[in-house]
Amino acid sequence: IMGVDTTGRSLHRRGYRVYEHPAALKPTIASAMLLLSGWRPGETLIDPMCGGATIPIEAAMMAWNRAVNRDRRDFNLLRLRLFDADALEEERERLRIAEGGDPHPIYGLEKYPRHLEGGRRNAERAGVLETVNLRLGDATDPAFYPEDVSHIVVNPPYGVRMVPRERVRRLYPMFLRALKEAAGGATLTVITAAYRRFREAAEDVGVEIISSRRVLHGDLQTMIYLCQV
Ligand SMILES: C[S@@+](CC[C@H](N)C(=O)[O-])C[C@H]1O[C@@H](n2cnc3c(N)ncnc32)[C@H](O)[C@@H]1O
Repeated sequence: IMGVDTTGRSLHRRGYRVYEHPAALKPTIASAMLLLSGWRPGETLIDPMCGGATIPIEAAMMAWNRAVNRDRRDFNLLRLRLFDADALEEERERLRIAEGGDPHPIYGLEKYPRHLEGGRRNAERAGVLETVNLRLGDATDPAFYPEDVSHIVVNPPYGVRMVPRERVRRLYPMFLRALKEAAGGATLTVITAAYRRFREAAEDVGVEIISSRRVLHGDLQTMIYLCQV
């Protein structure tokens, strides 16, 4: 079997990440979680622990019908002999014309000002700062959530890289309780490497896990859970 790498640099490198969050999520995984969540532009979406804002940015690009990597200039396929540069330019133009929409605000909460500021810088670089509403806030306090939240997509701390395990043990049930109060009936899509902690908290609080998927995030074995709050 022979393969040709037509991409080169990995597709998860979108080019908007001017602030590198220490526990950043791969944009390709963020995008897959959004598709899995069932969210559609126009519905109220929140990432309540948004860090460098990868999930809100990927959602905003979907809401604008913007092709990720549209302007990337270094695909390997550009060097193939049979490559048609005019056809690629035509396709880029077609994608530009197809862009648009009526994006509903996409919300992000973050507890620490330096990550919030970093998330705003990333959103600005991605050209979606006006679509994402990123605020300083605490995901465990129902008062910080907007009304009518229908979808929560989130990448909380796992207790591996940044936050002690003990804090995660307390965080997960507090977070799920806040969701029950602020967004009862909404859909929650969560990625975590602390899957036992998450399952215990979901059971304690009465959040139903509908499906689960194993995903390798870098060198970490994680699970993506789709839940009903
Ligand atoms: C795994 S990181 C998210 C990374 C993000 N998905 C990205 O790609 O940059 C988890 C984030 O949750 C934030 N966080 C932790 N506890 C929080 C809380 N109670 N409320 C809001 N944010 C919180 C942390 O500061 C951290 O930025």
